[in-house]
Formats: sequence, C-alpha cells, structure tokens
Amino acid sequence: MLFTQLIQANLRTKILGWKIEYYNRLGSTNLEAWELLALGAKHGAVVLTDHQFQGKGRGGNSWFMGAGKGLAMSVILNKKYPLECSGLISLAIGIAAAQSIQKRGLDPKLKWPNDILIDGKKAGGILCETKIQEEWIKKIVVGIGINVNETSNEFPDSIKGHSTSMSICSNHPHQRELVAAEFLNSLEYLLEMIHQDPNEIVHEWLDRCGHLNKPVSFTEKGRAVEGIFSGLDSFGHASINTNGEKKLYHSIILD
Ligand code: BTN
Repeated sequence: MLFTQLIQANLRTKILGWKIEYYNRLGSTNLEAWELLALGAKHGAVVLTDHQFQGKGRGGNSWFMGAGKGLAMSVILNKKYPLECSGLISLAIGIAAAQSIQKRGLDPKLKWPNDILIDGKKAGGILCETKIQEEWIKKIVVGIGINVNETSNEFPDSIKGHSTSMSICSNHPHQRELVAAEFLNSLEYLLEMIHQDPNEIVHEWLDRCGHLNKPVSFTEKGRAVEGIFSGLDSFGHASINTNGEKKLYHSIILD
C-alpha cells in the first residue's frame, strides 16, 4: 500500500503530482498513462502502483518490481516542448531520479542512457516515451522504476547478479512515498532549468556519471550499440566512440 497523501504532503511542486492515480495492481504505469492521456489527462498527473506486474523496460525488455517493495510511477507531461529539448529532458529525468535517492543518504550514479546504479548495480531505470508532431514533442510519459525495499533474493535469477535496491545498499528500509515526492520536486525544478540554464543540466548529469571515457552498451531502435562514452553535447546527446568513429545518440524514445 502506498499513501498518495503522504506523497502530496511532501511536494513542493506547482503542477507535478497535482493528481495521483493510484492502483493496487497494474500491468504497466506507462501504458496506463498513455490510456489516460487518450482520455484527456492533464499535464502533471501521475500514475502510481504498489504492484506493477508487466512493467516495460527499454529496448522491449521487461521491468521487474517487487510487489509492495519498489516504486513504479509514470508522470504525464501534456505540454509542448521543442524537439531539440528532448536530450536535456531525458538528462533532467535521470538527475531527478538520482537526487531523490541521494536525499535518502545514498550515492547513486547515472549510466547512459539513463540507468540508475548504486554500488555499481542497477537500482532503477527510466522509460521516457513521447509523441512527436512536426518539430514539437506534444506529449511525454516519464516512467520511472526504482528498487527501493527489495531484498536480493526477490529479484528474478536473470537480473539478480546485477540488480540492487536502496535498502540493500543502506541496510535499512526506505519510505517509497518520500522517494516519489522528491523525484517530482526535482523533476519540476529541472524541467524549468532546461530553458534557463541548459548547461547546468549537462553539468549535473556528468557530475553523476560513473563511466566517462569508459565502455557503454545499449540498444537503439532495436540495434545493439557499444562504444566509449566520451561525454554529452550541449543538447544532451551522448557522444559515443565506436571503432574510432564518434556518433551522437538520443536517449529519449521519439515516436
Ligand atoms: C529500463 O529498462 O531500465 C527502464 C525501466 C523503466 C521501468 C518503469 S517502472 C514505471 C514505468 N512503467 C513501466 O512499464 N515502465 C516504467
């Protein structure tokens, strides 16, 4: 059980989290958010569940959440953003996730495109989906999954070796509502910063990046990409060096 009132009591936002749609069980908060958008959901509404049983990950993967243990949440951004902001929006989401964990006394790192690592293991992930029209992002669903109170034997065998949770790393449980509230507080602030001080967003992300000039691998449009992560450009695109050739990559899913 998650207490939405406790989340809202800890918000310092103007818009994000004004409405929280809470479900005891749900296949995927991202899928539900798109359904609510189709029904006219307003900017800043949030979808949250205590038990996500068909979570979507990046690249067509699934996402595991321990029932009653993890955080699975989607934020609806029903507002126009210029397409060139997509990279910075994605970075802002990663920073907000890291800050929400940091506030609870842990030291998370970000890994391109937007994995959240604690002690070198995956503790969270972001699936940011968009609807594009011409040169504008018209709608965004920001899906965030954080392993909060899972114990290591709760993770499926296939991910056990490289997964961790906040409670494993700190040896005590965490209140998921506070993590959720802090994520929304940081995200709203950082989304405004994109227009005011985009360099700060790039700087903040790189500050938490644990793999500058180190190898990274990820999938893009179903294709596996491997290379050396050599930094970010001012639009928040990653520069990846593969076999001596540098290419820029987006982290957001543009549809
Ligand atoms: C990844 O592959 O690392 C991204 C995982 C994203 C999982 C979150 S949990 C909340 C939201 N709803 C989903 O179905 N997926 C995202």
